[in-house]
Amino acid sequence: MIKKIFGEFLPEYKMFNSRLLISGHISDTYLIESDKGLFVLQKLNHYVFPNIPGLMQNKVLVAAHLAQDKMFLHQVLRFYPAKNNLYYFYDDNGNYWNLMDHIGNSKVLNKTENAQQAHEAGKAFGHFISHLNHFDANQLIEVIPGFHKMSFRFQQFDQTLTLALPERRKMADQWIEQVLSQREKMHQLQYLHEAGEIPLRVTHNDTKLSNILFDENDRALAVIDWDTLMPGIVHYDFGDSVRSICSTAVEDETDLNKVQFNTEFYQNYHRGFLSEVETILSATEKELLPLAAQTITFIMGLRFLTDFLNGDIYYKTKYPEHNLHRAANQLTLVNRMQSVLE
Ligand SMILES: Nc1ncnc2c1ncn2[C@@H]1O[C@H](COP(=O)(O)OP(=O)(O)OP(=O)(O)O)[C@@H](O)[C@H]1O
Ligand SMILES: [Mg+2]
Repeated sequence: MIKKIFGEFLPEYKMFNSRLLISGHISDTYLIESDKGLFVLQKLNHYVFPNIPGLMQNKVLVAAHLAQDKMFLHQVLRFYPAKNNLYYFYDDNGNYWNLMDHIGNSKVLNKTENAQQAHEAGKAFGHFISHLNHFDANQLIEVIPGFHKMSFRFQQFDQTLTLALPERRKMADQWIEQVLSQREKMHQLQYLHEAGEIPLRVTHNDTKLSNILFDENDRALAVIDWDTLMPGIVHYDFGDSVRSICSTAVEDETDLNKVQFNTEFYQNYHRGFLSEVETILSATEKELLPLAAQTITFIMGLRFLTDFLNGDIYYKTKYPEHNLHRAANQLTLVNRMQSVLE
C-alpha cells in the first residue's frame, strides 16, 4: 500500500523499503528508502484538520518563501506534488498523504537535557518566525479555527461547567476556582491583539522541542511538523515552547511537587529566541513574552479541565482522572511561572 502511495508522488523512483517511524497523536509517519534517497511520507489526520487542501497550501507557500531566502539558515521542508499536481494524494480509503525530503543525520530530543538545548531551541523557533516577518499571514488559512483564542476556550468551559456531572465538578473544584480567578488576566493578549497592539504573524503553533531536528552536536537543523502553520501572534509560539521545554515534569505528572518551572532553561530559551527576533518584534511584543508563557500554559490547563468536566470526549485518556491530572499539572505550572516571571 505504501509503495503504491509513494508511486503517486514519484512514479519513476524505486521504493526498496518503508518503515513506520512514528504513529503520533496526529499523523502516521513513514520513512521511505528509494533508489534516489530517503523520503518521509505522512498520512494527515483529517479529523483534527478538516481542510487538508488548505493546510497543504499553507505548508507549500511557507516552504516556497523560506526556500528563496538566502539568509534562512535551516533546512526547509520540501514537499512533492502528486501525479494530480496537488501536494497531497487522496487515497481510496479517504486518507490524505503528503511526501517530503528526509532530513538526514538528524535526531529528535524529547526532553530538554541542558540549558544549551533550550537556548538552541529558542534560536530555532525565533529564526523561523523572524524569516517569515515579511510573509503576509493573511495568505494562510486558519487550519484549526480559534485554536488559541481564549474567549472561545472560556466559552466552551462556561458551557461545560453548567452541564458537568456534580461529582466531576466537585473533584475539579480547586482548579475551576483558579481558572475563574485568572480569567481577566488570561484574556490580555487576545484583547491587545484585537486592539491592534500585537501584530498578526505566521506562527508554527506546535513549538515543542521534538518539532526541531538537531544534529549530533545539538545544533538545530530544521523546524519540522508544519501542519499547524497559521496566522497568529508571536506569543503563541514562544508560550507553547516555554510550557513544554521549561517544565521539569511531563504534562501528566501527578506529583505536583515535581512540576517546577526551570528558570535556567527559561532564561536560555528567552535569550536564544530574542537573539533572532530582537529587531523585528515591537517593544510591546517583547514585554509580553513572560505573560505569553503563562497564557499558553493556562489555555492547555483550561482545555484539559473542560474535557474532564465534559466526560473526556476530546483527549485520549488512560484512566478516569487523567484529564483532571493534566489540568492540575498545567495550572500548577502557571502558578510556578507567575512567581518567577512577575
Ligand atoms: N523531513 C523530515 N526529515 C527527517 N525526519 C522527519 C521529517 N519529518 C518528520 N520526521 C520524523 O517524523 C517524526 C514525526 O513527524 P511530525 O512531527 O511531523 O509528525 P506528528 O505526527 O505531527 O508528530 P507529533 O504530533 O507527535 O508532533 C518526527 O519526530 C521526526 O522524527
Ligand atoms: Mg511532531
